[in-house]
Amino acid sequence: MQAVLLVGGLGTRLRPLTYSRPKPLLPLLNRPMVSYLLDLLPDSVDEVIVPVSYMSRRMRDYFNSLHDGRNYVVVHEVEPLGTGGALANVSDHLTDDFLVFNGDIVSSIDIKSLIDFHREKEGVGTIALWDVENPEAFGIVQLDEDDRITLFKEKPRGSEIVSHKANAGIYVLNESVLDDIPAEKVVSLEREVFPVQVREGLFGFGFEGYWVDCGTTENFLSASGMLMDYFGTDVSKEALLGKNVKEEHPIVIGQGSKVSGGHIGPRVCLGKDVEVKGASLSESVIMDSTTIGKDVTVTSSIIGVHCVVPDKCVIERSVIADDYELEKGEKVMDRKVGMR
Ligand code: GDD
Ligand code: MG
Repeated sequence: MQAVLLVGGLGTRLRPLTYSRPKPLLPLLNRPMVSYLLDLLPDSVDEVIVPVSYMSRRMRDYFNSLHDGRNYVVVHEVEPLGTGGALANVSDHLTDDFLVFNGDIVSSIDIKSLIDFHREKEGVGTIALWDVENPEAFGIVQLDEDDRITLFKEKPRGSEIVSHKANAGIYVLNESVLDDIPAEKVVSLEREVFPVQVREGLFGFGFEGYWVDCGTTENFLSASGMLMDYFGTDVSKEALLGKNVKEEHPIVIGQGSKVSGGHIGPRVCLGKDVEVKGASLSESVIMDSTTIGKDVTVTSSIIGVHCVVPDKCVIERSVIADDYELEKGEKVMDRKVGMR
């Protein structure tokens, strides 16, 4: 069976972090976000098709570096064609029924059960569903008693919010769906294809466990915290934590990182080779090779790779771009530093 990974978006809502890397390669608990999707694939998936546009060389290098026995076919999209256009662009590679994943999803969904459900229902497509509190950022569906989708509405507003069952961005689609997507133009699966395919027979598959879209800086941070809550503390054997460091679990610390004093946690992820001299860190992600000085406070923030945060800085609810050097004692509150 084949799977398509929709990983070609620009990742604008994750700027400034996506200026220097494509969204699927952002490190989530120290490994690329997209690797969580690959973990979900059952053995029956032997080929993965990846239409890429933004930073396609980086994406190609990543998929070429994988040696897990699957065949990865990376197809360049000259211009981003939207979620539907991207599928049409790789349609020559696709046969039978196939899986589709939005590239910014982290979830515990059991894909084998999704495939079984799809084949049992015999529709043209099955959409995985997750209940959300605020559906405005998602596509929503209405279901009949047989789990058949009777309505699909992308990014509903006001009175359009008739359900809290959101499209989880994971589908099984039959090849026939591709016939209804025009080639070589920008097409949205969610706005233009699903609302029409409802007539042909789309089904909704709910599941338990966890699901999160990591497409914004806020969601990325909460996904990081959620995964730590779920999987617990993970401190590399090759990390050094000083005796006086106060730990509040869960925390994740990458190889070669060194924390000599202060308070770390809860829900703090340090990348590789991070150096923390003496700081209070909570609910934050600090990426590889960043240096944090003494008397620093970092709360609910993301700091990119190779940054320098000197003594007495305070960073709250903020995002700092890669390679950024703050001034001593600088205060950064509710800001994205390094936006272009
Ligand atoms: N190849 C390619 N080309 N991929 C694209 C393009 C494109 O032009 N545009 C977007 N993508 C990829 C993105 O990289 C992302 O992985 C996925 O398609 C979905 O795009 P997002 O921009 O993240 O959409 P969203 O989060 O606003 O909404 C989507 O996901 C929600 C679930 O998280 C929709 O599918 C909603 O219906 C859904 O509820
Ligand atoms: Mg998204």
